[in-house]
Amino acid sequence: MDKQQSIAEYNHKIKRVMITQEEIAQRIAEVGKQIDEWYDGRPFLLVSILKGSFVFLADLCRAISSPCEIGFMCAKSYYKQTVSSGIVSITMDLEQDVSNYHVIIVEDIVDTGRTLNDITKLLKERNPLSLRVVTLLDKPSRRLVDFKPDVSLFTIPDFFVIGYGLDGEELYRNLPYVAEYNLDD
Ligand code: IMP
Ligand code: MG
Repeated sequence: MDKQQSIAEYNHKIKRVMITQEEIAQRIAEVGKQIDEWYDGRPFLLVSILKGSFVFLADLCRAISSPCEIGFMCAKSYYKQTVSSGIVSITMDLEQDVSNYHVIIVEDIVDTGRTLNDITKLLKERNPLSLRVVTLLDKPSRRLVDFKPDVSLFTIPDFFVIGYGLDGEELYRNLPYVAEYNLDD
């Protein structure tokens, strides 16, 4: 396959833009202000769940004016298809001791809800001062466990989406918008 062909195939997978850069920026400005009001200027910890949330975290943290620290955590979930609660395996853990912090988990998308259900359980066991979840996207129609984020910037229907940190087979994370992924061909 020549270079032009592979670029054409790459672009073909981007079916349509669902959320524009401008729409994302506007919601992030609103949520940044909201977060500024939560802790009265007391320091808190933003925990980014890798890899999907790295773009969202980078923009969200710059929409926040109060003092905050940043932490990273990488999680992989393994589930038997018939079991609705699972085991999340932490492939990279936070370096901070969360018992000293108000914690905000920053996630790209809540789909079945299993990943965040497990991560919030795990972090709660470490006794943070408080724990909240902010997600860029929420697909409530796909939920398999009862999980509700504190803030969701956009609720979307059941489409597989890419861009703004979210991947399709590890590509497309660098798109500046959220798009529907072309699963058809
Ligand atoms: P959950 O445990 O089913 O809620 O899935 C959460 C993870 O699945 C997210 O953090 C994403 O990494 C991935 N995921 C779910 N839906 C999508 C999607 O539409 N596009 C890309 N990744 C997705
Ligand atoms: Mg993810």
